[in-house]
Amino acid sequence: MEKNSTLLLQGHIRRPMYQLWVLVSFSLFATLFIAFRTFANIPHLTTKHHPPYHASSILSRCKSLKLQAGPQEEFFKRSESDRFVPNTKPVLIKRAKIWTGRKNGTRVVHGDILLDKGLIKSIGHLRLGDVESYGDKLLVIDAKDAWVTPGIVDVHSHLGDAPSPGLDGAEDVDSLKGTIQPWLRSLDGLNSHDESYLLSVAGGVTTSLILPGSANAIGGQAFVVKLRQTSERSPSSMLLEPPYHINNSFPNPNLPLRWRHMKHACGENPSSVYKDTRMDTNWAFREAYKKASQIKERQDEYCARALAGKWQGLGEFPDELQWEALVDVVRGRVKVNAHCYEAVDLDNLVRLSNEFKFPIAAFHHASEAYLVPELIKQAYGKNPAIALFATAGRYKREAYRSSEFAPRVLAQHGLKVVMKSDHPLQNSRYLLYEAQQAHYYGFPENLAIASVTSNSAEVMGMGHRIGYIKEGWDADLVIWDSHPLALGATPSQVFIDGIPQLDSPHVVKKPASYQRSPRVPKFRHEADEAVRYEGLPPLIPRNSATKTAVFTNVKAIFKRRSGVVQQVFSAQDASTFGTVVVQNGTVVCSGVHSTCSESAAYEESDITTIDLEGGSIAPGLVSFGSPLGLQHIDQEPSTTDGDVFDPLSRPVPKILGGDTAIIRAADGLLYGSRDALLAYRVGVTKGITAPSHSGFYVGLGVSFSLGAVHKLEEGAISKEVTAVHTSVRHLSKSSVSTQIGALRRLLLGPSKGSVGNWFQRVKEGEIPLVIEAHSADIIATLIILKQEVEVETRKIMKMTITGGAEAHLLARELAEAGVGVILNPVRPFPYVWEDRRILPGPPLTKDSAIMKLILHGVTVGIGCEEIWQSRNLPFDVAWVAIEAGGRISKEEAIAIGSTNVEKLLGAEVEDESGDLVATQGGDLLETSSKVVAVISPVRQVVHIIE
Ligand SMILES: *[C@@H]1O[C@H](CO)[C@@H](O)[C@H](O)[C@H]1NC(C)=O
Ligand SMILES: *[C@@H]1O[C@H](CO)[C@@H](O)[C@H](O)[C@H]1NC(C)=O
Ligand SMILES: *[C@@H]1O[C@H](CO)[C@@H](O)[C@H](O)[C@H]1NC(C)=O
Repeated sequence: MEKNSTLLLQGHIRRPMYQLWVLVSFSLFATLFIAFRTFANIPHLTTKHHPPYHASSILSRCKSLKLQAGPQEEFFKRSESDRFVPNTKPVLIKRAKIWTGRKNGTRVVHGDILLDKGLIKSIGHLRLGDVESYGDKLLVIDAKDAWVTPGIVDVHSHLGDAPSPGLDGAEDVDSLKGTIQPWLRSLDGLNSHDESYLLSVAGGVTTSLILPGSANAIGGQAFVVKLRQTSERSPSSMLLEPPYHINNSFPNPNLPLRWRHMKHACGENPSSVYKDTRMDTNWAFREAYKKASQIKERQDEYCARALAGKWQGLGEFPDELQWEALVDVVRGRVKVNAHCYEAVDLDNLVRLSNEFKFPIAAFHHASEAYLVPELIKQAYGKNPAIALFATAGRYKREAYRSSEFAPRVLAQHGLKVVMKSDHPLQNSRYLLYEAQQAHYYGFPENLAIASVTSNSAEVMGMGHRIGYIKEGWDADLVIWDSHPLALGATPSQVFIDGIPQLDSPHVVKKPASYQRSPRVPKFRHEADEAVRYEGLPPLIPRNSATKTAVFTNVKAIFKRRSGVVQQVFSAQDASTFGTVVVQNGTVVCSGVHSTCSESAAYEESDITTIDLEGGSIAPGLVSFGSPLGLQHIDQEPSTTDGDVFDPLSRPVPKILGGDTAIIRAADGLLYGSRDALLAYRVGVTKGITAPSHSGFYVGLGVSFSLGAVHKLEEGAISKEVTAVHTSVRHLSKSSVSTQIGALRRLLLGPSKGSVGNWFQRVKEGEIPLVIEAHSADIIATLIILKQEVEVETRKIMKMTITGGAEAHLLARELAEAGVGVILNPVRPFPYVWEDRRILPGPPLTKDSAIMKLILHGVTVGIGCEEIWQSRNLPFDVAWVAIEAGGRISKEEAIAIGSTNVEKLLGAEVEDESGDLVATQGGDLLETSSKVVAVISPVRQVVHIIE
């Protein structure tokens, strides 16, 4: 705060003095300041009786204060883009289904697109004459009726400022020098070597708004970049319409006014960094805005006099470098992007915007916006847009009431919703996936595509050149291998400024149905409940009131059989749909209707009948990899089990047995968390969890029901101890070699205490050793260690790798060693050095990491990193299946999310007693479907999901 007050004082210093000020040391500041004030206050020294020699520039500056930002008329007459790269070949994309962005995202054109000079030159059915002049310079692409959309536009990214792989020296997101810093610029930290550029482009992302972080109330100015490589290789050359201010302290009033961007944040982040409260943050905002408003008023008064020719005593134009950007905010010439979650925070910013009369471009995260749409509309000026994640939520208190139904609810209230990545928090490569999920939960198709293209372009003030496929717009577009809202949609080519970005893209062949807009369930009741219960609708499913439940119109039945998933029934068409009769939670008859209608149970008078409308019954999925079951709210320690000891970094208390202690996850289980219940409601019925840890550790995993309310319930725990877990990572406090040394001693040294007993069982091959490891070097070392142990014991040891970002490099070796992998995350990203050698999958490589492991015969499963992600496991499994391009069956895909996970982690694969999931309108892997019931033989219930 001390620094802040000096910055505010500095506002009284005039420009020539400012330059001096930066040269003098801080301790001299006060003395100089007082001397200068005295000097500057002598009136006759600064009084001017005549127009000053630079009067004309002052006058044009004064006139420019009234200008609004945005393109001028001439812009729309351009015939070449300012980003055009000479010698770029003109491109003709033939036979495309073009989502143009026009008419609220409903206008689709079947035809051709011509790109030249970095621009979209024409759209529609082109005649030979239109392209003849290009001769053989023209690059012709036959889209074969594929979908083409504008490039994906991300309104919230830290790409380049938080480069990947993340290294301590490379973070340029959050300055901690004060909570109010409108003078900082994200451009100044933009690293041009972030590995995400190419990865995000491979997901169709062409433009991103690079925002400063949220550690500050005012974090600084944001910049729009296009993600393609430039020949200049410089950050500046990536900028899209940068404000002219970036080259000069004070703008040239003769240049057109371009949009500027500014980050604000309220709530927990700025408060926690400065150990402030929301009250402090809001005072800091008001103090800063007061300052900026005063400068603006001084400028306006000054200009009123200057424009009237009253130069007497006028002095210099009032301006201050540190505040000029915030002054522009109160002039309405800056897109303010405010990170605010809760109603209290949204309310604060809405009041602030009215007090100081500035518009807010978008509220980001805004997890409670859907609960207060009328409040959002009270913001000053145009309604702010709402920039959301689709399903990421509940990771902190602020996000606890977030809802997957927010986009549809906000849209119903007429508010603009955009989806954003917060890259690398979420990998922006999959920003379109956010729109797909929002669509699944009821966000209309036209708006879902617009939420990552035209509407996001509008929100960043760039709608005049990107976000649409219109003549004269920038030639940024994506050809997709399926309908863009179909899960797993992947670019087959991406153009930025008319330049194709993918060298030899690998394209997966998909079924024809994927070319159509995906059919999705209704979720009307659920969306209403989300609002009615202020984000906390009851999630505990209802027990079927009757002992007997009958599922009709069943298209397919999958079961666990001898540890694998098998399809035991499938109907060709509606006339042969089957029936499943369940009594006390156990399937007593399944198959053709005529057979089951004769089943004794069917005869009972009191039955619940559920029409699956062509849906299926399949094994429940199994979640692993996050602390699901040990946390309610990730970032609230009082709601979690907490971390176990890392015996390599601090002594384990004697009362536990010192370093011979081994902790059981089962002892810390917390039932009924919202994430567990949400997962349960989408068909993820079991969790396997290891103790939470943040370094090297050893602990025992547990498998448990995600639908149970407490531990004493029948079937609440499936298996008390599943496996011995540990982790070997470069991120731990001790060296990797130390961690391996500890493991070797545990496996081959003298065994002692509880930990000794459990490692004895590992050596005997009775229980798996599950090791979180990402680097190929660590994994290779672990394979060697396994061999050492096996030579000594002459027994096969069960070992499973989790994480496994670089495991694909050892696919053959892992298969030979009989070591399985739980890939977590399933779509890898080079977050840190030890997982930088990812196999990115289509369109960059033929195979995805998981596919490569499967092809080599490695047993694989899918993990989830954070507890909220478990509810997306069905999507993850379906995505693997579609991306395999027909190389794995539905049964194998379901196994990757269920029986494989159980096998690899030492949980029982319960052939007969495992939970089954009934889906309506499609099977578990189809986005047309919705889970309507969970059938649990162990708990002897049928849970109705409604
Ligand atoms: C845009 O589309 C949405 C959803 O389809 C609709 O609710 C809204 O009224 C449309 N807006 C306009 C201006 O047509
Ligand atoms: C900034 O200066 C550089 C170098 O003089 C120039 O190439 C660039 O166009 C300028 N940018 C703006 C936005 O004025
Ligand atoms: C269902 O449970 C009841 C008691 O809870 C028992 O009487 C009945 O036999 C059971 N039926 C089956 C098919 O297991």
